[in-house]
Amino acid sequence: MSAFDYARYDRIRPIRWRGDALELLDQRKLPFVTEYARAASSDEVAAAIRGLIVRGAPAIGISAAWGVLLAARDVEAADGDEAMAKLAPAMRRLGAARPTAVNLAWALARMRAVLHDAGAGWREVLEREARAIETEDLAANRAMGVAGAALIAPGSGVLTHCNTGSLATAGFGTALGVIRAGVAEGRIARVFAGETRPWNQGARLTVWELQQDGIDATLIADAAASHLMSTGRVQWVVVGADRICANGDTANKIGTRQLAIAARHHGVKFMVVAPSSTVDMATASGDLIEIEERDPAELLTRHGERTVAEGVRAWNPVFDVAPHGLIDAIVSERGVVTRPNAAAMDATFGKR
Ligand code: MRU
Repeated sequence: MSAFDYARYDRIRPIRWRGDALELLDQRKLPFVTEYARAASSDEVAAAIRGLIVRGAPAIGISAAWGVLLAARDVEAADGDEAMAKLAPAMRRLGAARPTAVNLAWALARMRAVLHDAGAGWREVLEREARAIETEDLAANRAMGVAGAALIAPGSGVLTHCNTGSLATAGFGTALGVIRAGVAEGRIARVFAGETRPWNQGARLTVWELQQDGIDATLIADAAASHLMSTGRVQWVVVGADRICANGDTANKIGTRQLAIAARHHGVKFMVVAPSSTVDMATASGDLIEIEERDPAELLTRHGERTVAEGVRAWNPVFDVAPHGLIDAIVSERGVVTRPNAAAMDATFGKR
């Protein structure tokens, strides 16, 4: 898209590598405080991932890759294999920070793979790989933005969930990248974003991010999604992903599954937008994905104050799985898989 003004539509960068530390735009404090937190060790990066200072599947993969560089600062090794042995415990701790988004394991596997072939210059090799993981993500997002927007008829309305924008990636975003491109091309006339309870990624991050670009968006309560669909104002639900299985089943932020079910009922199309780093061809179907459960306090309190009667229990799974049969299109930088199933996924993402 040659006419695309990235300077207008893509100004936020959540991850800044400083050589001796990683700076992460603190997503716990947005939208009212724009402040970068500094992680000076791999364990501080792991803690930032666990604590949602940085979040979103691609962004946590990129952060983990830079985290390996921080761990490498304490390592003396003659070659890549020796470095790999010494870095293994830190890499294990980074990999364990969150379980559902496969981008984390994917990025660490890439870092391991380049170490294996590296000689005395293993440190530079690692740095090149971390930078490549970040720049490839930005390029993938820009390609997906164009490809996804092309599926949307001019004048359409879209509903998105969670935050899949620059904040969740190297920049531009996945589903939010499609929305940026679709708005710029005049295909998308109305944008709705769900709050995304309980952490409120939609309310705190997505509508703020769109506001930075001057893109008009309307926030809705998650519970209003199905009613919105019944009014005819949205033609597509456009979401990101944390892990897409070999059959197309897609894990994403809690609430995605009910959006997919409601969309099918109302004749609204359902699009998943994610780079190939989110595709996990080694996991056959969604029932095999580990779903992260977080502290029930996210449901029982607001700004640290209890809002629910003492003694009440809460259950807080933070992802769910949209079955592939409810997905109309999976958009990646490798192309668009329409009506995904195991054969269609294999044709695009199988071993080459
Ligand atoms: O718990 P989060 O905020 O990390 O969850 C994020 C999501 O579910 C996103 O939709 C997904 O990671 C894709 S981000 C491009």
